[in-house]
Amino acid sequence: MTHELSGKVAVITGAASGIGKASVERFVEAGALVLAADIRDDAGQALEAAHLGRVRYQRCDVTNEDDITSAMDMAARTFGGLDILFNNAGAGGPQTTLEDMTGKDWDAAQTLLLRSVALGMRHALPHMKQRGGGAIVNTASVAGLSAGMGPPAYSAAKAGVIHISKVAAAEFAKYDVRVNAICPGLILTNIFTPDDAIPGQIRTAIQAGMRASAPSAQPVRRAGEADDIARTALFLASPAAAFITGIHVVVDGGMLVGPRHAWDPAEQARRQEMRERAWAGAEATA
Ligand SMILES: NC(=O)c1ccc[n+]([C@@H]2O[C@H](COP(=O)([O-])OP(=O)(O)OC[C@H]3O[C@@H](n4cnc5c(N)ncnc54)[C@H](O)[C@@H]3O)[C@@H](O)[C@H]2O)c1
Repeated sequence: MTHELSGKVAVITGAASGIGKASVERFVEAGALVLAADIRDDAGQALEAAHLGRVRYQRCDVTNEDDITSAMDMAARTFGGLDILFNNAGAGGPQTTLEDMTGKDWDAAQTLLLRSVALGMRHALPHMKQRGGGAIVNTASVAGLSAGMGPPAYSAAKAGVIHISKVAAAEFAKYDVRVNAICPGLILTNIFTPDDAIPGQIRTAIQAGMRASAPSAQPVRRAGEADDIARTALFLASPAAAFITGIHVVVDGGMLVGPRHAWDPAEQARRQEMRERAWAGAEATA
């Protein structure tokens, strides 16, 4: 057990599941006191019970500015201040193309994924100023860096998260508050099966299917796990990253390293076969 965050107070949003939950566990292990914010009360309360005295659950819908403000205030009231914010809550949202999208789809994605991050930083800042500094980590996505990784509204919001992290890093530097973003690749969490109405058997089958195909989704041949992101968030929030601000860290098993044929032997073989067929055709007609 390490104590990089000993005596530090953190707010983590989207704390009841996936990346947020893994981060609560990592941060507590590192010595932090955590305000776990989410809209899933049962899972949030279970997390609080599992870490009594070190984690407090607070219902906080990040699309609601008053909820965000009161989560920051509650962390400071409960634990005596606020040093770290991990703006992580999110959902995939409707899988609509740009061609099919409505204004409502667009607004919902920006409100949940981008406005929440900006307002989270805005309402955490007064508390961090009182502490004389702080660290903010925002969850973006590879979808914010490359097309084809998520629905258009989601992708644009995540690109916004990368940029607002840089803008905030510049603005908040005078208060010794660092701001960085993380761009996860494919991470096996409940984001792919968010609907509680999905019957258990179907949920299990979807998750098993994703786990089976994940190792071939990127160069690193295993599924991405929530803890891969939690460990990165812990690093960026910790004094080990004291000289790092305004960056985005890509944690994607190499998904964005280059085109698929750069690393996938099956794709290389397919392209080789195509070349050989083209040569054979050309020779036959010559
Ligand atoms: N899993 C991936 O492959 C992946 C890839 C890139 C980025 N991300 C991002 O990672 C973050 C965490 O997602 P995850 O994969 O852990 O998914 P998850 O579904 O396991 O967890 C998301 C959590 O956010 C909470 N949440 C949703 N809407 C909320 C709201 N309005 N207010 C407060 N909490 C809310 C959910 O209740 C849930 O507990 C999201 O921002 C997501 O966009 C995930």
